[in-house]
This record gives sequence, C-alpha cells and structure tokens, in this order.
Amino acid sequence: MNYSIPPWPHAPGPDPREIKHQFLIRNDVIFLNHGSFGACPRVVFETYQSWQRELEEQPVEFLGRRFLGLMSEARAKLAEFVGSDPDGLIFVPNATYGMNVVARSLAHTLPLGFGDEILTTDHEYGAIDRVWRFIAQHVGARLRRVTLPSTLSTPEELAETILAEWNPRTRIFSLSWVTSPTALVMPIKMLVEEARRRGVVTVIDAAHAPGLLDESEFRLEALGADFVVGNCHKWMLAPKGAGFLYAAPRGRETLEPFVVSWGYQADPPGRSRFLDQHGYTGTTDPAAYLSVPTAIEFLRNPDWVLIRERCRTRAAMVRRRVAEIVGSEPERFCPDSSQWFRQMVACPLPSCDALGLQKALWERHRVEVPCTRLGGSIDAVHADDPRRWLRVSVQGYTTDHDLETLLGALREEWPRYART
Ligand SMILES: Cc1ncc(COP(=O)(O)O)c(C=O)c1O
Repeated sequence: MNYSIPPWPHAPGPDPREIKHQFLIRNDVIFLNHGSFGACPRVVFETYQSWQRELEEQPVEFLGRRFLGLMSEARAKLAEFVGSDPDGLIFVPNATYGMNVVARSLAHTLPLGFGDEILTTDHEYGAIDRVWRFIAQHVGARLRRVTLPSTLSTPEELAETILAEWNPRTRIFSLSWVTSPTALVMPIKMLVEEARRRGVVTVIDAAHAPGLLDESEFRLEALGADFVVGNCHKWMLAPKGAGFLYAAPRGRETLEPFVVSWGYQADPPGRSRFLDQHGYTGTTDPAAYLSVPTAIEFLRNPDWVLIRERCRTRAAMVRRRVAEIVGSEPERFCPDSSQWFRQMVACPLPSCDALGLQKALWERHRVEVPCTRLGGSIDAVHADDPRRWLRVSVQGYTTDHDLETLLGALREEWPRYART
C-alpha cells in the first residue's frame, strides 16, 4: 500500500471486533452504511423480541391494560434523552411519518395559503422534499430550496447564506439537522433563533441527529424549534420503526391526528389533548418503541464516548484516503472539522458513474456503502447537479480492516467508473 497518510492510530476503548459481536451485522458484509437504516445491538433486539412475545402471550392484557402505561414510561426515557418535556413528545414509526403529521397539519391550521413560501435547502432527504412538494401543490404555496454553497467555510457563513434567502412570504422553514446526502451538521441553532425572531415556523428533520450528535447538543426544548421529527432506529440503535415527533408547547394544539382513533375527543380526556390524539392509532406492535430505553442504556455505556471519538477520527481519515484515491479535494467541500461532520462523512467524488461504482463495491467486494447525490437517487429536481459523494458511516463495530477493504476496493474499481 502506498498511501501517504500514516496507518490508523491506536485509539483507546473497546476493540471494534468485540463490539461487532454485540451486533447482528453479518460477518461477510463490510457494513459502512449505518446511516440509511441503522443497526441494532443484540441486547436491544432481544428486548424487542421479548416485548413481542409478551404481547402475543396475552394480547388483551398487553394492549388493553398495559399499553398506555408502558408507552408513557418509554416516552419519558426518550424525553429525558432528547431534552424534551415528556408531554411534548410522541412516538411515530419514522421521521417521514412525523414530517407528514406536521406538514399536513400546518397546511390546514397555520394555514398555509396561495403564495406563501416553504423554504428549505437542496440538501434535504428526497422523501421529505416530496412531503413539502405535495403540500405546496395542494395549497398553492411555493416551495423554495436554498442552494447551499459548494464550498463551506464556517457555520456562521452558511447560516447567513440561508438567511439571505428569507422573505416576508416565508412561513415555514424546514431543515435537516444532519443532511442525508452530504452528512453535514447544519448550523441549526442560529437559524432557529432567527426564525423565532421573524415568526417563521421551524420544522427540523432530525432523522440522523440523535445518537450521532452528543447528548448534550441534542436538547429539543433548548433548541426552541416548533417541531422536530427524528429517528431512534438510526444512530440511537433502536429497532426499525421507532421515531419521534416533538412539538413545542405553542405547536401542540396545531397538530391534527394523522390517524383518528380513540384519542380524538377522548372519553375521559387525559391530561394532554396532544398525547391523547397522537398516542394511540389503533392496534399495533409497539415493541420497537418499548425497546428505546434499552437502546439508550446501551448508548450511555461510558465507553461509547471513546468509541464515537474513534469513529469520528477514522471518518476524517477515510475522507482523506478516499480523496487520495479518486483525486478530489475534500477541503474544498467542507473543512475537516467536527463542526461539519461526525462519524458519517461524505467524501466528494470527481465525475464518475456513481451508481455503477456503488453496485461494484457491493457485488464484487461485499462493501455496503452508498454513493449519494442531492435529492436522492432519481430526482428530476436535482438532475443537473453532477456532484456525487461516497457516504461512509463509521460505527463502533467498524474495524480498521473494514475500512482498508473499502479503500482497497475503491482503488481497484475507481479507474473503471471515473469519467475523464
Ligand atoms: C435526513 C433524513 N430525513 C428523513 C429520513 C427518513 O427516515 P425514515 O425512512 O426512517 O422515515 C432519512 C432517512 O435516511 C434522512 O436521512
């Protein structure tokens, strides 16, 4: 190997090979895409399955008598983890669902009208962009996406670029806390503060943020946004199907139930109409939600701080090594700083057949890693933007051998897929 960058430095904390045993990820897969759907530790998955078993053993006892109490306990644990008042937080199956609840409600209750503007950016997740497209088309509002600079320097400068696009018709501002195609941590606090000053409703997509950001940074009430949707099944390591929706006190009454059930005009009413209306949506399997406290316990293992730091350092090194192989200049995209990215990093790729490359990495090398573009894989909105990234997630179970395998595979495949 002739990399000019030195080998991976020793890092304190448990050996990733041992951590890998604690997960269910297959040994024959080099799994570098934690970002898309997460991965769940064994202990959390076993908790999940034991809740499912308990439900099936006595469904009436479980769903008829215990459901609300169990959900309330799990919600309280999650609320503490994300810095929320437990009465302002509901479980939803995923961030997309939560965003639908918010967007569809705001269209009626804000209300959003003809000529009003929904402002977002061109780095949002494709499905969420579609939610806003759908709403805009239905009410005659305008969806405008700020084009983020192709070179990022400071979070303050980026916040100013975004703010310069606001105008008096901007009613809703929707932004990812951590972007999907580019893995960037957005200057969310500054933008939310300014939105509050201007009376613009803020809807934050935190699909990636909890568990990827430090617990001390991810405090929902302190953030002051109107609505935040997020996932527990990505970086919080919960089983699939566990997301949340946070609403600030001023926003709770404006949310309409997406599914009308017993909680609408609840008889007798509980202490919170918000919880009544959104807390029970019909017969369901709540095992993923009820496993969230176990995932939180897993994350709070003191070693996890060391593990995340090791992952973040490795992610930065991977970015440099990928740049050497493909001949890109990642610093021209964003500085090598934890202000901009953590253990998930987007490595810029020069012009190439990115989908072909992703397919080859998987099919020929068993390396699971996405090549990303703005707006998702097939999207007319961003069809003209030629930029592509290799988005690498480094998780506690990622070994140095996994990263070397990626780099070796990329070195082999790149000449086939690069466009000169
Ligand atoms: C930024 C962002 N928002 C929303 C989502 C949607 O998450 P889910 O499919 O769990 O709703 C994703 C998924 O990767 C994402 O990256």
